[in-house]
Amino acid sequence: MVRKRLAKDIGPVFLSKLTPATLLPHALDEHDPLAAARADLFRQAQAACALGSPFVRDVLVAAARQLPRAPLLSMRLAIWQGDRASAAMALRVNGALHALARSGEVASLSALYAARSGDTDRAIADAFEAADATLAQFVDGPTQTNEVARSAALHAGLMLAAERFGHPLELLEIGSSAGLNLNLARYAYCLGGTSAGDPASTVRIAPHWHGPAPRRHPLRIASATGVDLTPLDVADPECCERLLAFVWADRDDRMVQLQAAIRLARLHPPRVERGDAADWLDAQLSRPQSAGITRAVIHSMVRQYLDAATRARIARAFAQAGARADERHPLVHLFYEWDEGRRKVELVLTTWPHGETRLLAHPDPYGDRVSWIG
Ligand SMILES: C[S@@+](CC[C@H](N)C(=O)[O-])C[C@H]1O[C@@H](n2cnc3c(N)ncnc32)[C@H](O)[C@@H]1O
Repeated sequence: MVRKRLAKDIGPVFLSKLTPATLLPHALDEHDPLAAARADLFRQAQAACALGSPFVRDVLVAAARQLPRAPLLSMRLAIWQGDRASAAMALRVNGALHALARSGEVASLSALYAARSGDTDRAIADAFEAADATLAQFVDGPTQTNEVARSAALHAGLMLAAERFGHPLELLEIGSSAGLNLNLARYAYCLGGTSAGDPASTVRIAPHWHGPAPRRHPLRIASATGVDLTPLDVADPECCERLLAFVWADRDDRMVQLQAAIRLARLHPPRVERGDAADWLDAQLSRPQSAGITRAVIHSMVRQYLDAATRARIARAFAQAGARADERHPLVHLFYEWDEGRRKVELVLTTWPHGETRLLAHPDPYGDRVSWIG
């Protein structure tokens, strides 16, 4: 019964890794009002560990255990109506604790994060008792990573599109966050032995690459614009703090890469408008398109936040714009998203005219690894 309910809560992929000894005692209690929230934190803890972040695992497991010490935060998590995994509730808790640790407000928490070891339960309990309201407020906001490592797979996919049509790209991104991936042509890449992007860039991205190396094709970016419900401004230190808080605390490499991308974005500010993805895309795809420019819509780790109606509107906008596309006015849709079952991340490219769709790769959620099919 409990395993059946957990299967529903945490998904079949991770259930297979659970044994009675690894289950949280609380998650086994049918009557615990926080059971679902704890199972979610635990699922994310397992995922973080599998992705090479044992410190984040420890923090999330301690958070699950200490949750009753933060009544406001607990209430937010307990009454959450939507799909917790899609809304990344556990990642919001992780971001909230990281932000608090970086602020220095709770000494034992900051010390734990600085050392990445110690009495995790004690420090998390201190944080919950001292800063419940701050943490609860943080998780009310959306998950706002802006992971530039995802640019590697996106850049590789766009090289194929650029090679296919031979035109400069009009880049349109939905769910841009701070817009760091709109600067993707300004980064240097090593894609399984293929060098791409700007070799002189201060942002250097070299994911573990499996499968054949993609063919190099220079990208020419005619324009790059994005949209987000809550755009983050790289010129605003508070926005940057929020971005940094969403990086897993034991991933110094990602922290350094993000800081380099922020510095570059201050020199070349990405254009990110405030708005809803479906409204914005509808308007963008309805605008006249110059001949000899490929219109390329990209998005990464956004689809899970869009409701069914928004997804349907976006699909309709693509179908209509695709029907108008021709060789002089091509349309490209490249996405880096979880598949429907949240089992694998996919990089998928569709090109119009003709509406041909290809699965290009399975990257991991944060861009550390790319299994390229090409
Ligand atoms: C997990 S972040 C990913 C950001 C970026 N694409 C990346 O890969 O780093 C998801 C972003 O989608 C935005 N978002 C969620 N729903 C949206 C919507 N309906 N319209 C526009 N942006 C949305 C959020 O505000 C957030 O910045």
